[in-house]
Amino acid sequence: MFETGGTMDDGVLRFGDGPEPWPPDGLRGLLRGRWIEINWHRSVAEGIHAIATYDNATSSRLGDAARVRWTEHLRAIAFAEGPVCEVAAGPGGGWMPRILTWNPGARVVVNDWSPGVLRLWKDFLGRARPDVRLCFAAFDAARCTFRPGTLSAVTSFGGLENVQGGDPDPMQRAIECMYAALRPGGFLLAQEHTFDAADWAHLGTAQRSAWNERFWDLTLTKGERLQRAGFEVVDRQLAPGKTMDPGNDGIAVTAAEFGVILHSKNEMLFARRP
Ligand SMILES: C[S@@+](CC[C@H](N)C(=O)[O-])C[C@H]1O[C@@H](n2cnc3c(N)ncnc32)[C@H](O)[C@@H]1O
Repeated sequence: MFETGGTMDDGVLRFGDGPEPWPPDGLRGLLRGRWIEINWHRSVAEGIHAIATYDNATSSRLGDAARVRWTEHLRAIAFAEGPVCEVAAGPGGGWMPRILTWNPGARVVVNDWSPGVLRLWKDFLGRARPDVRLCFAAFDAARCTFRPGTLSAVTSFGGLENVQGGDPDPMQRAIECMYAALRPGGFLLAQEHTFDAADWAHLGTAQRSAWNERFWDLTLTKGERLQRAGFEVVDRQLAPGKTMDPGNDGIAVTAAEFGVILHSKNEMLFARRP
């Protein structure tokens, strides 16, 4: 399935020998706060009946018909024949807990570039769900690690938008790698944040290029990014999000230096490699 053989290290398949990207305190905090377990139970509780969103208010605003539709998309992925890759699964685990709720036999490759985070998942699921068989694969999602055409599906829950690394546009690079990894006809299901174009409409050219140097091109929606990589977007929906806190919310803090208050929405995407 992979381009090169990785090294098995305490149940996690590692590609590359870079340092652990998560600070030790961060990993210890996840363990002490039992975040993996909490996130698993939260996702499983939501998983059967509701399409998961970042908060209940957003979920209810999706509407029943939309929730049924998105649930069907996810179910199709859960029962895909070949392997599914969860990109940048993080401590939230992305769609993986919901996929396993429907189909404990699903073949999921759980990706993150942090072996430490993956090991926490492996240890927890080893105790809580010894019936599931997952592959925990630590690699940089912006490097094409899969053999072309090997995956049936790719899932991301705020994973693609969080891909970091040396590439000038690591998110786009990760999308391209996942496109190449999918077999023709394979699907990608993602839920990512997207921003209102109106937020930075008042920026001058110089400010905008300074912005783009510090971040990626925020004017592109994730749907447009998928299309640039060759995907056919089968279903797309914007769910209302929130006004980000310029005193607290990561990127919103820097955006405030540009005089921009960010309004994020949830962009749900179901796309297909033609
Ligand atoms: C906030 S989490 C993403 C959300 C998560 N999928 C969830 O369900 O809550 C971000 C994760 O992306 C991982 N990450 C960052 N850059 C990455 C890369 N280049 N390749 C793979 N994972 C990466 C981080 O280690 C972190 O665990």
